[in-house]
Amino acid sequence: MFLHGTSKKNDAGHLEIGGVDTVTLAKEFGTPLYIYDVALIRERARSFKQAFENMGVKAQVAYASKAFSSIAMFQLINEEGLSLDVVSGGELFTAITSGFPASRIHLHGNNKSRAELKMALDHEVGCIVVDNFYEIELIDELSKEYSRKVPILLRVTPGVEAHTHDYITTGQEDSKFGFGLLNGQIEQAMKTVLDSEGIHLLGIHCHIGSQIFDTAGFVLAAERVFEKINAWKEEFSYIPEVVNLGGGFGIRYTKEDEPLPATYYVEQIVEAVKKQVDDMGITMPEIWIEPGRSLVGDAGTTLYTVGSKKTVPNIREYVAIDGGMSDNIRPALYQAKYEAVLANRVTENHDKTVSIAGKCCESGDMLIWDLPLPEVQAKDLLAVFCTGAYGYSMANNYNRIPRPAVVFVENGEAQLVIKRESYEDLIMNDLPLKSKVSQG
Ligand code: LLP
Repeated sequence: MFLHGTSKKNDAGHLEIGGVDTVTLAKEFGTPLYIYDVALIRERARSFKQAFENMGVKAQVAYASKAFSSIAMFQLINEEGLSLDVVSGGELFTAITSGFPASRIHLHGNNKSRAELKMALDHEVGCIVVDNFYEIELIDELSKEYSRKVPILLRVTPGVEAHTHDYITTGQEDSKFGFGLLNGQIEQAMKTVLDSEGIHLLGIHCHIGSQIFDTAGFVLAAERVFEKINAWKEEFSYIPEVVNLGGGFGIRYTKEDEPLPATYYVEQIVEAVKKQVDDMGITMPEIWIEPGRSLVGDAGTTLYTVGSKKTVPNIREYVAIDGGMSDNIRPALYQAKYEAVLANRVTENHDKTVSIAGKCCESGDMLIWDLPLPEVQAKDLLAVFCTGAYGYSMANNYNRIPRPAVVFVENGEAQLVIKRESYEDLIMNDLPLKSKVSQG
């Protein structure tokens, strides 16, 4: 069994995270419950920053907040001195409400509305990552309204396909994101932007995909971008101040996954960039990255209570838990795999094989197939590891199941950071049917 971060088996034979017994957490906060190991998030954040410092490169590490966003999470990221990537008015609103400094917020999105852009300009966010020609027009127009220059990055699709699940590759040329790097679109965009009085082109952005385990794709993307930068030096007399190479660093969900340490990704990327910069004889731009999953993924664990069981003779045993695709849609959507243990009997032999079913009314709501566990009973606690990224943030109310609570644990203390939804919360925006006017 692989234990992440501060997770360990304690003397009571229970799973403990951040110095807090998960059985106690279940009693206090109920299940399903998302538990975040704060020390592990801090460690990841620091190692990304440190890696750039060690290489003497000016950098911004922006947390891709789509992985998990909440007020407390943004405050934690701010404490660690990272920047923030937001992709919607909702994420931006959460960030501003949390007190996150707007100057370190980057606004993304392939279809930002005028209202979202205005919100970003009202708060003077650090930069807007521009995705398409329509957005350039909008920003140019808004810059006049605000009478100031808007700092932007232009997002390119570098034509690099990362080896990962199809749904989560975004760097290939046939993508809804960004300007084609190789088909002339980026030059057209640059021309428009450089001619605009109201736009300050800080630099270039690219992101090649998610859950990537090797550095070749990042290095290739960086090389492609810098080849272009070399050409733009002549064509536009333009040298970017910033090159943002996105996120996508893989993490270990199961023993099949072999991620590299954060520092290694950074070293390889920076070395590739340095080589290009030296060859071109230009000043080293700031390097920005946007890790999401690798900052919070393995810091998150979901705790469930076991309920019913069903044995299909000679085939399998289904064990149902009190959550499922409503709190973790990744198995249903991406065939994502997870590991799990019985949190209340973690030291016992996990030598039976069962399949973990969610409680939603859908056959596809299976959390884990063929999981080794001890003999399971109702009321046992199942801890599913590595649910910290794209778990809560993709949670939904299918079957009107309330979304779970979220706690942060650190140094033996637990803090509730998102309350469990109540049934009242679920119907909060519902309005009753208009009563029929009686006829005749
Ligand atoms: N930057 C950009 C522009 C992105 O589109 C993404 C992720 C990231 C950074 C962060 O990537 P990360 O470091 O977290 O891999 N829902 C999917 C993942 C979608 C990723 C979308 N973009 C999942 O559950 O696997």
